[in-house]
Amino acid sequence: MLTRCPVKCTIIFSVLVCSISLGHSDRLGYYCTSDGNYTSNSIYKKNLDSALANLYSAANASNSGFYNASVGEGSDRVDAFVLCRDDVQPDICRSCVKDSTDMLRKSCPNQKEAFEWYQECMLRYSNNSILNKVVTEPTWRLRGDYVEDGAQFNQNLRDLLDDLKAQAIQRKFATGKTRGPQFKTIYGLVQCTPDLSSIQCSNCLDNAIGYLSTCCSGRIGAQILKPSCRLRFEVVQFYNETTGTDAQPPSRSQLPRPGKLMSFLGIFPD
Ligand SMILES: *[C@@H]1O[C@H](CO)[C@@H](O)[C@H](O)[C@H]1NC(C)=O
Ligand SMILES: *[C@@H]1O[C@H](CO)[C@@H](O)[C@H](O)[C@H]1NC(C)=O
Ligand SMILES: *[C@@H]1O[C@H](CO)[C@@H](O)[C@H](O)[C@H]1NC(C)=O
Ligand SMILES: *[C@@H]1O[C@H](CO)[C@@H](O)[C@H](O)[C@H]1NC(C)=O
Ligand SMILES: *[C@@H]1O[C@H](CO)[C@@H](O)[C@H](O)[C@H]1NC(C)=O
Repeated sequence: MLTRCPVKCTIIFSVLVCSISLGHSDRLGYYCTSDGNYTSNSIYKKNLDSALANLYSAANASNSGFYNASVGEGSDRVDAFVLCRDDVQPDICRSCVKDSTDMLRKSCPNQKEAFEWYQECMLRYSNNSILNKVVTEPTWRLRGDYVEDGAQFNQNLRDLLDDLKAQAIQRKFATGKTRGPQFKTIYGLVQCTPDLSSIQCSNCLDNAIGYLSTCCSGRIGAQILKPSCRLRFEVVQFYNETTGTDAQPPSRSQLPRPGKLMSFLGIFPD
């Protein structure tokens, strides 16, 4: 069954509130940076409100899946972006943009900088400029149970992730599958924010893949969520077929409802 404990939280450079809440979209984690706060009547707050509203109108106006906004000047400037997974339908992307912006404001009520990851999208805002930079911390991870035949599984997984990384440094997104031990199929997804260069994307994914070996070796599924990239693997198909390498799109009934098939043990921000 789906157990959502233990929930362990480690504080690195910021205060962290650990909780999971399910809106319409499926929220996985968030992080409020605590070294810069704004007050409720500040210009920063107004700018942040406008920036998030701009993201929502941008998502309403186009199906690109990546929306950025920058509002204000100097120390009151707010940069924000939201990125949907490329395999997510535009209307689902739009609800994720709405849900993520609403929820992050509630979760981080006065912090200038915050990060949030959903199954379908990820959101960031900051008083520092956030485009064209690789940011690999903070990290959230979710992981499943141990798999039998872990060594073989890891080898197959590693090959899959290397292949997906090679594809993603061009397109910033890739999904694919490979044969694992014991008749299992391993499905993987990697994504970088599209403002990154190929090298930056590669660096972020290397960081995430490296992290995987420290947290999640021999696990049957995991997600590594970073500000500039994300990766996930499972032994069930959790993504929608895009134009990628998989030959035949599965019928709709074969697809799991997003986010409902994971048997994660917990959420572990590091
Ligand atoms: C910002 O606010 C949080 C609580 O909302 C607090 O823990 C933190 O110390 C504050 N940071 C600064 C720099 O005042
Ligand atoms: C953003 O806020 C932090 C914390 O208040 C501050 O140290 C930093 O200089 C600010 N960045 C900019 C560009 O103003
Ligand atoms: C979204 O777009 C529709 C039509 O394109 C428009 O009527 C609606 O007002 C827009 N909503 C927002 C919040 O921008
Ligand atoms: C996956 O594709 C199906 C069929 O096109 C669609 O109904 C569903 O909403 C998609 N899922 C997501 C998360 O976009
Ligand atoms: C950010 O948004 C601006 C205008 O809204 C757009 O011109 C620019 O291309 C966007 N940047 C990226 C990396 O998408």
